Amino acid sequence: MTDKNIVLIGFMGSGKTSVGKKISMQLKREFIDMDDFIVQKVGLSINEIFKQHGEQYFRNLEKDLCKRLGKAKQKIIATGGGVIKDKKNVDNLRKNGIIIYLQTTPESIAHNLKNDHSRPLLAVGNKLEKIRELMAERTPLYEQLADVTIDVANLDLDKTIAKIIQEVS
Ligand code: S3P
Repeated sequence: MTDKNIVLIGFMGSGKTSVGKKISMQLKREFIDMDDFIVQKVGLSINEIFKQHGEQYFRNLEKDLCKRLGKAKQKIIATGGGVIKDKKNVDNLRKNGIIIYLQTTPESIAHNLKNDHSRPLLAVGNKLEKIRELMAERTPLYEQLADVTIDVANLDLDKTIAKIIQEVS
């Protein structure tokens, strides 16, 4: 098994946190959820961080954390969906990590986030439309920055994990 970090990228609601938690249990490696880490550090929810300090403040914290995680080893890391907006973030995460992109459809994201109110960027009238718009903008970046792409639209959690483990072994 690789010594590298397993770094999950992909759109909000694509399953990075659930997949990351389960892989970390299976491989007995520490799990780091970047959003949770930032929430703990600031002492505010993501919604409150955006509301009180603005998106740029959050992006700066995200960027610093990517730098630190470039030096970590054997971790399972779930990123926030916007981490790819700055290529340097992913370059840092790749220093000691394999970048796995969980790819899915706007419909599947909309379904997963139907009752979710924790994503400030999706707090709009028409969620599906916003998901489509952001996805169109970001998909080329996810694709370009991934070492491995896994289509999770029709895969259950266990199959997704088996595939990732196979890819990194
Ligand atoms: C964001 C995704 C979120 C969180 C923040 C911004 C984005 O993380 O970092 O709300 O820009 O896509 P998840 O992908 O874990 O929802």
